Amino acid sequence: MAEKKPIKITETILRDAHQSLIATRMTTEQMLPIVEKMDKVGYHSVECWGGATFDASLRFLKEDPWERLRKFRDGFKNTKLQMLFRGQNILGYRPYADDVVEYFVQKSAANGIDIIRIFDCLNDLRNLQTAVTAANKEGAHAQVALSYTLGDAYTIDYWKDIARRVEEMGANSICIKDMAGLLLPYKATELISELKSVTSLPIQLHTHYTSGVASMTYLKAVEAGVDVIDTAISPFALGTSQPATEVMVETFKGTEYDTGFDQNLLAEIADYFRPIRDEALESGLLNPKNLGVNIKTLLYQVPGGMLSNLTSQLKEQGAEDKYYEVLEEVPRVRKDLGEPPLVTPSSQIVGTQSVFNVLMGERYKMVTKETKDILTGHYGATVKPFDPEVQKKCIGDAEVITCRPADLLQPELKTLESEMEQYKEQDEDVLSYALFPQVATEFFKYREAQKTKVDAKFADTENGAYPV
Ligand code: CO
Repeated sequence: MAEKKPIKITETILRDAHQSLIATRMTTEQMLPIVEKMDKVGYHSVECWGGATFDASLRFLKEDPWERLRKFRDGFKNTKLQMLFRGQNILGYRPYADDVVEYFVQKSAANGIDIIRIFDCLNDLRNLQTAVTAANKEGAHAQVALSYTLGDAYTIDYWKDIARRVEEMGANSICIKDMAGLLLPYKATELISELKSVTSLPIQLHTHYTSGVASMTYLKAVEAGVDVIDTAISPFALGTSQPATEVMVETFKGTEYDTGFDQNLLAEIADYFRPIRDEALESGLLNPKNLGVNIKTLLYQVPGGMLSNLTSQLKEQGAEDKYYEVLEEVPRVRKDLGEPPLVTPSSQIVGTQSVFNVLMGERYKMVTKETKDILTGHYGATVKPFDPEVQKKCIGDAEVITCRPADLLQPELKTLESEMEQYKEQDEDVLSYALFPQVATEFFKYREAQKTKVDAKFADTENGAYPV
């Protein structure tokens, strides 16, 4: 047998897998009992935190995401904890000033994050630099994720060039983030081998099963030298989620890539999550449609999440018959806007504008604020130029910027702190507020109300209302 080169595995069950399949609704209480077993597997890392988990915790589950992170840190004694970070947008939807980005990275590391996966929806590396530098400073592992997409501009040379620049900017590893499952098996061979020829950084591959090719893509990527792959334990694998952990482990058994993982232990972990999956299927939270192969993803090169967004937007407008017209408009709008990858938030921007263009019967008759912001350079630089006529029609004579968008932002931490001071119980609260001002305020009020209830209970006890 050739020299051993065990493939490393990042388990996504605590972040991407439940985000992709059950709208990020798994609670901390559902996760904690299995942490001790997961910690024994030997995962390279466990992905457990990110934009949607943070948002859903505060908004729907009424949980403090920081508290969840601290509990993970207590439980995972041997395993690295990983998070997903939207560059200058942190875990939110708008660019933040550098002082907020730096403080968020500092607090994430202090509360237990080891690896920060940082991406930008335009692959504009200037939007990643502050977070990468901050992660370096905190001693966290800074992984830069390149949003994978197809299009004229995205040649092998494009990926090689950007990988070189990622290494120069101080990243510790590179991730190819294929959110739509577009990377085909033989393309993966080419991409990974070519990237390996220009960078010495470890390379991780993240993909989704949406289009049905993901486990084959992993096989070819591993043979081509990829270092780490992202998988989900089987009850929350496949469909719009990742390939199954146990299947990939078994695939490489007895080869030079053997993970050495204990399948019995993985089976116990799967047994734990299966009833949670069954319950979600029964309640409708897990839609069986998301478990199959969605071949439209390959045809239209649109991420699965974006397809379901378009369907619901059209349904709201009573215009479901326009679905295919909108799908054909998406690549045109994407080209007009400089051909960005389609990932949060560019996927929402391109999708919504495409819906408007079709429903209004005239392209760019109605233009969203976000479309204008892209066309004035406020999200950063796109790989291709904007269509000049579209730009003129949408923004008129408005000023177009070419600098790093955050260079125009004043420090904002102090202002944010003064706005939420009355609710502050821990330093981290200001960051929750910065990302989701309304949702966080609602949560702070809820937290306050819960405390009052508990106090009242104690007061009653003191008055002898409860038997001792
Ligand atoms: Co993903």
